[in-house]
Amino acid sequence: MRYPPIVKKMPHILHGGDYNPDQWIKWKDTIWKEDMRLAKLAGINTLTVGMFSWAALEPEEGWYDFAWLDELMDLLAENGIAAVLGTPSGARPAWMSRKYPEVLRVSASRVRNIHGERHNHCLSSPVYREKTRAINERLARRYKDHPALAVWHISNEYSGECHCPLCQAKFREYLKNRYKTLDALNEAWWTTFWSAAVGDWEQIESPGSPGNGGHNGLKLDWRRFTTEQFVDFYLNEAAPLKEITPDVPCTTNLMASYTGIDYARFAEVLDVASWDSYPRWTSAEGNGEIGLLTSYHHDLMRGLKLRPFMLLESCPSATNWRTVAKLHRPGLHKLQSLQALAHGADTVQYFQFRKSRGGPEQHHGAVVDHRGDEHTRVFRDVAELGDCLKGLDDLVGTDTPAQAALIHDYQVRWALEDAKGFLQEKTGYGETLLAHYRAFWKRGIPLDIIDSRQSLEKYRLVIAPMLYLLREGTAERIDQFVQNGGVFVATYATGYVNESALAFLGGFPGPLKEPLGVWCEEIDALYPGESNSIEWEGRIYRAFDLCELVHAEGAEVLGTYGSDFYAGTPALTVHRRGKGRAYFVAARTEGDFLDAFYRRLTAEAGIRPRFEELPEGVTAQVRSDGTTDFVFLMNFTNEKKTVPPDPGKTGIGLEPFEVKILRSETNL
Ligand code: GLA
Ligand code: ZN
Repeated sequence: MRYPPIVKKMPHILHGGDYNPDQWIKWKDTIWKEDMRLAKLAGINTLTVGMFSWAALEPEEGWYDFAWLDELMDLLAENGIAAVLGTPSGARPAWMSRKYPEVLRVSASRVRNIHGERHNHCLSSPVYREKTRAINERLARRYKDHPALAVWHISNEYSGECHCPLCQAKFREYLKNRYKTLDALNEAWWTTFWSAAVGDWEQIESPGSPGNGGHNGLKLDWRRFTTEQFVDFYLNEAAPLKEITPDVPCTTNLMASYTGIDYARFAEVLDVASWDSYPRWTSAEGNGEIGLLTSYHHDLMRGLKLRPFMLLESCPSATNWRTVAKLHRPGLHKLQSLQALAHGADTVQYFQFRKSRGGPEQHHGAVVDHRGDEHTRVFRDVAELGDCLKGLDDLVGTDTPAQAALIHDYQVRWALEDAKGFLQEKTGYGETLLAHYRAFWKRGIPLDIIDSRQSLEKYRLVIAPMLYLLREGTAERIDQFVQNGGVFVATYATGYVNESALAFLGGFPGPLKEPLGVWCEEIDALYPGESNSIEWEGRIYRAFDLCELVHAEGAEVLGTYGSDFYAGTPALTVHRRGKGRAYFVAARTEGDFLDAFYRRLTAEAGIRPRFEELPEGVTAQVRSDGTTDFVFLMNFTNEKKTVPPDPGKTGIGLEPFEVKILRSETNL
């Protein structure tokens, strides 16, 4: 399966980055021209412009200056470079904050920001919405037929929340729509507890600073509301662009480790998912764990739309905001860039093209350093990659054919983080997902990471660790999947609450009790250093952190606990149901268990790895158009590795940090 290129007229891997030519307007006759030469030399075909340029584009209210951007867009077109055109709402001119203080964001402790920095506007302010829309409309009208225009990059890294009176009023409206009556809201939030009953909509306030946060239901709804605020803000920004340039894709840059927005919902309004990847690559010891985490993040972002995405920012060298701004070891730039492609990206873009001379990011890695020319190691790395990308046109639009999926749900994470109980300091939702993902990554078996609302039909194996909160219909869909022949895995801390964070009555895991054939009576939290064990198939595996006490009610017991008062009780079960099986892992375990367990389950589900064995720190990921497979073999260690030969073939050698792309006939 092959998707159309993100930019229809560019059937190439997009290579480029954030470029801030307005910082160099005074030197445009020299620096801008030199930048074009350097970009082409580096094999760059796209540059992102205008993203933080509001003060340059509208220096005074209603007085617009597009002359410099006209000149720049022409220059890009003349040089065959496409523009990813930014909308400037991520930072605003000072005149606006001064004249309209309502645009300034208010914190959870109800303090209004002063003007400065960025990402700090109110999400409701009618003035801010009107101003962003007005400038976006002008940008769209002005450049709609410009040959350089390729993609709209809306705003920058939407994040945070605003607690101003305007946002409070909108929150109340949102709740009125959601619950219709105060009675329904009071029940959903369980406000009989601590006299929290709401007697009038006006009594509702957004959660305050930590310690003054309010009930779980309120907190969940506030985050859902904030997500809707961003959706709404984005749609307001995108409206004139969609109307005037309907064929130009719109996106905004997400952050894989950011959890303040339900990206699964937010992505519904994006034409293409895109994100900013800044892995904390370590030193000469190698990067196996960081490689794993970065792969996970790519798959998480790809899963938002399950089609090719944009690596909209990455760093060609040292990332200045890391406490240790480490240089990329030789080979690492190519590895991190091709890793993104391996997981479904069709672009490699950077922050930033030319290093700024001053300001907070003057020491952030860039393609062009302060020296200002091509004679640097980083530039050579980028140019070498540019050459390599030119040979990958046939990769554009290819699919990432996973037969197994891992469920990740932002709202489950929120509910778990708010839950007082279990293991508050180490709830470990993200870590747990990563631990399960690891068992696949090290064998080179691709996984989709999907939200619990997404369809399960195309998979053979679905894993849903710690599915603490169950949305309406999720349990039924999982049951259907199993009955139709799927293999499903659930774990401890599953099926405790509904979407309002109200506990399921009648036994956990709530509506999954029957599909899984278990009843979870209690959950034991262990102190650091304590452990229990699971005995399964004659081997003993360590269990720690959380051990759930389970009764098999229809399921077959495969493994049992080794110690404590629940020794001998079920720790691993399987429930045969319809044509499929539903497994339940009752405790947190180490990787050795997950490795053995998933070896068994992938075999059972008929999922075969591409290579029998992969060395430590090496993964293989696949993209495919259905006829040709592109197998990316990646070595994240600083040692030479050999992928053991399949019978009748020779082994494949990989240098430290090397990536090899092997093309073969599809054989999934
Ligand atoms: C983010 C922002 C960029 C820049 C980089 C620096 O991703 O989007 O504007 O600040 O971080 O790493
Ligand atoms: Zn506000």
